[in-house]
Amino acid sequence: MTAEKKAAAAPAKTFTLKDDQSGKEWKLPVVDGTVGPNGIDVRKLLAETGHITFDPSFNSTGACKSKITFIDGDAGKLMHRGYSIEDLTQKSNFIEVMYLLLYGDLPNKPDYEEFKRHITYHTMVHEQVHFFFRGFRRDAHPMAIMCGVVGGLSAFYHDSLDINNPQHREISIHRLIAKIPTLAAMTFKYAIGQPFMYPRNDLSFVENFLYMCFAVPAEPYKINPVVAKALEKIFILHADHEQNASTSTVRLAGSTGANPFACIASGITSLWGPAHGGANQEVLEMLHEIGHKDRIPEFLARAKDKNDPFKLMGFGHRIYKNYDPRAAVLKADCHAVLEELGVKNEPLLDLAMELEKIALSDPYFVERKLFPNVDFYSGIILKAMGFPTSMFTVLFALARTVGWCAQWKEMIEEPDMRIGRPRQLYIGAAGRPYVALDKRK
Ligand code: ACO
Repeated sequence: MTAEKKAAAAPAKTFTLKDDQSGKEWKLPVVDGTVGPNGIDVRKLLAETGHITFDPSFNSTGACKSKITFIDGDAGKLMHRGYSIEDLTQKSNFIEVMYLLLYGDLPNKPDYEEFKRHITYHTMVHEQVHFFFRGFRRDAHPMAIMCGVVGGLSAFYHDSLDINNPQHREISIHRLIAKIPTLAAMTFKYAIGQPFMYPRNDLSFVENFLYMCFAVPAEPYKINPVVAKALEKIFILHADHEQNASTSTVRLAGSTGANPFACIASGITSLWGPAHGGANQEVLEMLHEIGHKDRIPEFLARAKDKNDPFKLMGFGHRIYKNYDPRAAVLKADCHAVLEELGVKNEPLLDLAMELEKIALSDPYFVERKLFPNVDFYSGIILKAMGFPTSMFTVLFALARTVGWCAQWKEMIEEPDMRIGRPRQLYIGAAGRPYVALDKRK
């Protein structure tokens, strides 16, 4: 008997729900995951019981089935399509990981070359896009520019925005993941007043991005392989992270049938928040504010004080209640990059290491399982590479674009995809008589 037949022959699993008041019981179907928790299918809950589930920050809510990424937060594990993040960062490159996320398997040689060619040959943006940039103030936050220009890309591709057409979806995804680095580099160049550098097809994805950011027309630019390797790892580590806030935003926007450029722009806006993608910028700002090792106890006390909104940025994670595996990969790279760039004695790194040591042994952080997350190290590395803090979240968005695209693609390809529409627990007035303006007190 095949595994499918065996599964079909097995009695369906159910979960019994009981209303203690009426004594009435309902059997809810249980949906199995490959690994991780199973799901209780509550789709008919409202119709059958008259109740909704109440889960405001979606801690216990599965909003979709997905084959892309799996996280075991307690064990500190992250897998894409079954491959560990450690294997992917050590043995793969970003092009391969992008292919894996989008198409489900690592590419063979011809598929790899073809995919790489598609991405390489879509890196240029329409010349008209340059005018978008010139409309922004030079001191605009790069994420503000990204929200605008990425959404604005949909204005250039009217001919390929039919989300029900697989070829249109494919070309839009290729355009997005190829052009985002160009746009990201343009936001950087615009802020510092240097000319935009056109992409170079002879360079790898990551090298080309470094070139567009740091080269100037006046002289040749030499890629530093240590920096390129570390940035490639940062991109791989940020490529996807299952149903986080920005990915859920992309899925929800996509469920309305919105075009992929608009959906990815919505993901960028969601990523911008300091509790999500904005955290690596905040880590650096926090380290600057702390300034010296001697002041660590003062800031730890503030982080523990419930009346103080201050949080230790770069610590804690909604899902990881163990060391963030991405932070573990970057910790080692952090030292290698700083050494290569001659900033080994960077005082902020020293401060960060001391902060990590103290926080990891502090009972408040130990009891709450607050470990350093990926943002804690990525900020320090990106700063050493020469990126200003305001660009950090843009780099995160660049890397995450493929994850957003893969999740959007998976959702659109679901045969029973419907518009997302959460319910609410209404706690407002139950109904009031209308009072005319001149009679109101
Ligand atoms: N500093 C101090 N205390 C913290 C921190 C922190 N960084 N993070 C959580 N806590 C405390 C909470 O106050 C809470 O304490 P309590 O139980 O006494 O009330 C407890 O730890 C549990 O925290 P929650 O708020 O329930 O954790 P949640 O899952 O909601 O939040 C989050 C996760 C948003 C990441 C939070 O840890 C945080 O704000 N961290 C700092 C920002 C950050 O680094 N974000 C990056 C996330 S990774 C990413 O997006 C790539």
